[in-house]
Amino acid sequence: MATKGRRKMPIPTIEWVDGRIHLIDQTLLPNEFKQIYCDDVESVWEAIKSLRVRGAPAIGIAGALGAVLGIWKSKATNYPDFAAELKKVTDYLATSRPTAVNLFWALTRIEQTAEKHKDLEIEQLKGVLLDEAQNIIEEDRARCRAIGQHGLNLLRNGDTILTHCNAGGLATSDYGTALAVMFSAHESGKNISVYADETRPLLQGARLTAWELMQAGIDVTLICDNMAAQVMKEGKIQCAIVGADRIAANGDTANKIGTYNVAILAKVHDIPFYVAAPTSTLDLSLKTGDLIPIEQRAAEEVTEGFGSRTAPEGVKVYSPAFDVTPAHLITAIITEKGIAHPPYEESLASQGD
Ligand code: MRU
Repeated sequence: MATKGRRKMPIPTIEWVDGRIHLIDQTLLPNEFKQIYCDDVESVWEAIKSLRVRGAPAIGIAGALGAVLGIWKSKATNYPDFAAELKKVTDYLATSRPTAVNLFWALTRIEQTAEKHKDLEIEQLKGVLLDEAQNIIEEDRARCRAIGQHGLNLLRNGDTILTHCNAGGLATSDYGTALAVMFSAHESGKNISVYADETRPLLQGARLTAWELMQAGIDVTLICDNMAAQVMKEGKIQCAIVGADRIAANGDTANKIGTYNVAILAKVHDIPFYVAAPTSTLDLSLKTGDLIPIEQRAAEEVTEGFGSRTAPEGVKVYSPAFDVTPAHLITAIITEKGIAHPPYEESLASQGD
C-alpha cells in the first residue's frame, strides 16, 4: 500500500480534536468553506444524515469517530456495561444512512477492537478505540493514494474524463478515489481535462467536484446531468471514472443516482467506464447488487433543494439517492490493491478487505 502523502485538502475533511469531532460542513460549499464541531453522537448522526459529511469513506470515518465520541464520557466501570453502551451508540449511528457499506465496516471494526481489548481498564480501552479510528483515517489516506497510482496508468496524456457526483478529498480522509486518479495523473505531468456532471438533486458535482478540481488546477467543465450523452457523442470523452458506495461480489456497484445512466451512455459510445473505490467499499457478503439497500431521500431535496420551489406544491416525488450499475457495464474496478477486471467474482474475491 502507498505510504502517506502530503495532504490534498487544505484542512482535514474530518478529524478528532480534544474530545470533539471537527468536520468541513459540505452543505455550505462552494459558498462557504467552514468547519463545524460535533460534541455528541446525535450531532454526528445529523451531520451524516444531512450530508454535512458525505461520501462512502468519509461516512465510515464519521461512524468510527462518532462511536468513540459516543462512549468517550462513559462512566461504565466494567466491560459488559461498556460494551452495551458502545452497541447502543453503533446501532444508532448505523441508522443514519443505509447504502455506503463503509459505515457498517467502520462500526464493526470499532466493536471488534473493543472486544479484542476487553481486559483493559475502561479509560485505557477508550484510548485504544480512538487509536483504531485514527488508524482508519490513516489507512484511508494510504488507500486513496494507492488508488491514484494504480488508476493513473489508465489515462493517457490529453484524455478528458467524465465524472459523476463527488469522489474526491471531501468524500474521503483527504485525496479521493475517482478524483485521486485525476489528481495523480495531473501530478505526474499528464495533461488531462474533466467534465463534471452537476449531479441532481444535491449538486455534489457542481458544488464539490468542480470546486476540488479547480483548487487542484485541473481543467474542469461543468455540465448538467442530461448533457452527458451529447458530450460523449461529440467525441469529447475518453473515459468515465466514478466512485462507489457499495460493490457486491459480482461487481455490481451502487453509487450516486445517475451513475447507471453514465455507464449505459459510456457503453453505447464505446467509452471505458471505471469505478474507483477502496476495498472497504466491497461487500462480498452480497452476491449481487440487487441486495444493496438503496437510500430514499426527502421530496424537498427535489422540489426545493436550494431555496426556491421548482415544482408544484403537493406533487408526488420519488427520490432514490443511489442506483446500481450492473457489472457488465463496468470496464474495470480500481482499488488500492490494483485493477480488477471481469469476471469480478474472481478478481474481487482476492481483494477482500
Ligand atoms: O450522497 P453522497 O454525496 O454521500 O454520495 C456520494 C457518492 O455517491 C460517491 O460517489 C461515493 O460515496 C464515493 S466517495 C469516494
